[in-house]
Amino acid sequence: MSKDIKKVGVLGAGTMGHGIAHVSATSGHEVVLYDIKPELTAKGLASITKNLDVGVEKKKVTPEDRTAALGRIKTSSTLNDVAGCDLIIEAVPEKIELKQQLFRELSAIVDEDCVLASNTSSLSLTEIAAAATHPRRVIGMHFFNPVHLMKLLELVRAYQTDDPTLERVRHFGEKIGKQLIVVEDSPGFASTRLGLAVGLEAIRMLEERVASAEDIDRAMELGYGYPMGPLKLGDLVGLDIRLNIAEYLYKELGTPTFRPPQLLKKMVRAGKLGKKSGEGFYRY
Ligand SMILES: NC(=O)c1ccc[n+]([C@@H]2O[C@H](COP(=O)([O-])OP(=O)(O)OC[C@H]3O[C@@H](n4cnc5c(N)ncnc54)[C@H](O)[C@@H]3O)[C@@H](O)[C@H]2O)c1
Repeated sequence: MSKDIKKVGVLGAGTMGHGIAHVSATSGHEVVLYDIKPELTAKGLASITKNLDVGVEKKKVTPEDRTAALGRIKTSSTLNDVAGCDLIIEAVPEKIELKQQLFRELSAIVDEDCVLASNTSSLSLTEIAAAATHPRRVIGMHFFNPVHLMKLLELVRAYQTDDPTLERVRHFGEKIGKQLIVVEDSPGFASTRLGLAVGLEAIRMLEERVASAEDIDRAMELGYGYPMGPLKLGDLVGLDIRLNIAEYLYKELGTPTFRPPQLLKKMVRAGKLGKKSGEGFYRY
């Protein structure tokens, strides 16, 4: 019987890391939230507190559970403090060298049966795993933003991942209240690949003047029950990020589906990156 996960280390206290720490703590796990500077972990903890407070206001979280969850989170800017964790989930910037370097360092700090997970949304888990001393315990845990509200958790099996690792993480995923899908390591996994295929086709349709941005989005929102149309979603994610992933998937998969549309390239070059720059397919 493989060991239950009780203590979780989260690396990176940004958008995703603080959310992962949040759901780990509210489901009863001890958490070490690590970032490179104390002010960054403090910011992450402040976001968790704010989200828990909203939960209390909406009566989704009891005041006692809020206090207990916050009591389970320790922050740190010393990597050694994650020693003793049963699972470590990294949510640092999307750079393969950075993730590999962390997994190399962690291999020297944690026990051999500590699971090392990556929240990468597009990089190869097999390549990240290759940097760890025991690559069989490396796996992808792809969460969605905002982590405490989104139901899906996509587990990505690297070429090296063994069955006990997958089972331990599956059990943890269920315990934190997520609905799981399991995919083999392949470019864009299931969610990013399918989401981007629709997103890029919507941009090509806009280029061809098939319909306005609003109407393309409404086709999917009203006709297919998407909570948000593909162009609006692109604006929210950031068009530069959309373009990077399209270039990566086009290189890896070679299908015209992922060839970046000219309009997307032009908008990024013009600094129209979506919501964060004030303008994308819509104005903000
Ligand atoms: N934002 C999303 O919607 C989303 C969704 C799914 C997956 N992801 C993936 O999650 C990961 C993190 O994305 P994010 O949006 O949270 O980024 P972010 O920029 O909000 O946060 C990254 C954090 O990592 C910290 N960091 C940088 N170097 C570090 C190091 N060496 N050790 C520890 N911490 C370090 C930064 O200080 C920052 O706080 C990426 O791999 C991204 O692809 C993001």
